[in-house]
Amino acid sequence: MRRKSANDIRSLKGKIPIVCLTAYTAPIARVIDEKVDLMLVGDSLGMVLYDYENTLQVTLGQMINHAKSVVGASSKSCVVVDMPFGTYEESTDKAFMNSARVMKETNCNGVKLEGGQKMAKTIKYLTKSSIPVMGHIGLQPQSVLLDGGYKVRGKVKSEWQKYIDDAIAVQEAGAFAVVLEGMAEPLAAEITSILNIPTIGIGASAKCDGQILVTEDILGLSNVAPKFVKKYINLDDVIKTAVHKFSDEVKNRSFPSSDHIYNMRPHIVSNKGNN
Ligand code: KIV
Repeated sequence: MRRKSANDIRSLKGKIPIVCLTAYTAPIARVIDEKVDLMLVGDSLGMVLYDYENTLQVTLGQMINHAKSVVGASSKSCVVVDMPFGTYEESTDKAFMNSARVMKETNCNGVKLEGGQKMAKTIKYLTKSSIPVMGHIGLQPQSVLLDGGYKVRGKVKSEWQKYIDDAIAVQEAGAFAVVLEGMAEPLAAEITSILNIPTIGIGASAKCDGQILVTEDILGLSNVAPKFVKKYINLDDVIKTAVHKFSDEVKNRSFPSSDHIYNMRPHIVSNKGNN
């Protein structure tokens, strides 16, 4: 089966719910590839892997390195790479140069960038230049310092029009899908019904066309979990149990046992010279 493209993701609108997860590394990409439609190399890797306070410190080099390993370890899902803060806002030229670098160096299927109406010109430029773009509106983590935190959008109806206009602007600019982050359910439902491209929700209810979560969050490997995260397993505990066992066995010298060591070749008796 060939890898899904951005167009394949777009064509799922109204057909089946679209399954998306983040992937930052080869081992995770290898395991989840079978079951997801789209893997996002999200700049959330700054907080999840590097323990940064927010996503603003993430560099293009980091995104490219992680994306290379995710693309290399997967073959089925569409891989989208987040453009990190400071690499696309200044001008359409800068956005193109950096996005084209991501596409060339990682062989991914598209890029994602944050922003609605204010990024529409850039999204249009990129898509016209053959770079598939996924939009991201609602709560935008790269604007956290100005927005004063991670606040849910659309809780009052007077806020709605701005987000609806953002969604339409992103679609009209040519995006193949749009992430709705941190949005009250009725607003997410309204945007999903207006758009003809898929909406991918994170903290935006089951009314979206698809869902995305941070893989480490659903596996129980993150120390903070927002309300919208469902932990499907507590891998923290699984890992701790395995590491305790390893530590005990190293200390009592039961590891490595005969199954895990190398012996010399059996001695070959030579008859030469015995006659
Ligand atoms: O960086 C990220 O992981 C995201 C989310 C949509 C999951 O942008």
